Amino acid sequence: KRVLVLNGPNLNLLGTREPDIYGAATLKDVEALCKQTGEEAGLSVDFRQSNHEGELVTWIQDARTTADAILINPAAYSHTSVAIHDALKAVGLPVAEVHLSNIHQREAFRHHSYVSAVAFGVICGFGVTGYRLALLALAEKLK
Ligand code: DQA
Repeated sequence: KRVLVLNGPNLNLLGTREPDIYGAATLKDVEALCKQTGEEAGLSVDFRQSNHEGELVTWIQDARTTADAILINPAAYSHTSVAIHDALKAVGLPVAEVHLSNIHQREAFRHHSYVSAVAFGVICGFGVTGYRLALLALAEKLK
């Protein structure tokens, strides 16, 4: 089975961006962790990042024919994007939402995510391990 792993804006800066909140791992490290977890769980992982909402929407639409599930850290778009919510709903694949930080412990504007309503599960606060946990949950779901 194939999982499309999507990362939203500013996650390309992981490792240097507010490391006290987001940790020291780079996006390359997260990709390596996802690929390794995919191998263990029998999933092929297509790992991508974009700073552009429309590009993420197009990738989600394309997943209709190229993926069996989506893992997404929508980053700031979690809190603003009806377009990403609609695209995920339209595609209808199982979605796992991941945040590195515990968004509920942070500013009020991060407490609501438009993606959560269309995700079968949400993980936040466990850092990069959240990606691993979400992939394992998707593998179980896709069995
Ligand atoms: C984030 C949390 C968001 O609120 C923030 O805008 C991000 C990253 C996280 O992984 O903790 O860019 O999704």
